[in-house]
Amino acid sequence: MNKTFFCPSMMCADFSNLKDEVEQLNAAGVDVFHMDIMDGNFVPNFALGTNDLQAVRANTDKLVDVHLMIKEPGKYVELFANLGADIIYIHPEAEPHLLRTLNKIKASGKKCGLAIVPETAIESVKYLLDKVDYLLVMTVSPGFAGQRYLDFVTDKIKDIVKVQKQQHFKIVVDGAVSPEKIAELSKIGVAGFVLGTATLFNKNETYQTIIERIKKL
Ligand code: DX5
Ligand code: ZN
Repeated sequence: MNKTFFCPSMMCADFSNLKDEVEQLNAAGVDVFHMDIMDGNFVPNFALGTNDLQAVRANTDKLVDVHLMIKEPGKYVELFANLGADIIYIHPEAEPHLLRTLNKIKASGKKCGLAIVPETAIESVKYLLDKVDYLLVMTVSPGFAGQRYLDFVTDKIKDIVKVQKQQHFKIVVDGAVSPEKIAELSKIGVAGFVLGTATLFNKNETYQTIIERIKKL
């Protein structure tokens, strides 16, 4: 994926019609289905589970990522790889053995990503950036959709863009991503955007209409 890519945050979807939601998002031209997995421990919430991942996986040939907001994600790499995740994001704030777990993800044949909460400085993961395919920069505190964008993270994103120039990883932004933020951040080097309630879900327009519009930003 070289163009800007869009990742619907499926925890925001209408789960009473999940198959239909996935089919509409497929048709609308999204790129990666973003699956927020939570353990009620690393974050004070639960979102999607393995059955949700299987249901989305069964209804799309597009990429599916899992955003593991769970403690000790290294224990569950095989589980999510076998359930069909194409990209596995882990939090350095939740994993004591980062390099080992990143290598485990790669050994499972999947793409790997680090997801960092707003407070985490990029310096704390700088020795790993040449080992990951994606860096998921959270612009809200993890665990809940519908929050407000934390403005201080934009400066961190600008710093990451400078570092990224010598690396192969792609920058993805996750949390309160509005059309205005897509326009602003794609111009400075962000490659991917997780779309939740700020842009895509619970709107009175079709996914097709919204995706068509944001692809022109
Ligand atoms: C929050 C999740 C995000 C969230 C995005 O912990 O990682 O993916 O669902 O939803 P909005 O865009 O509503 O913040
Ligand atoms: Zn997420």
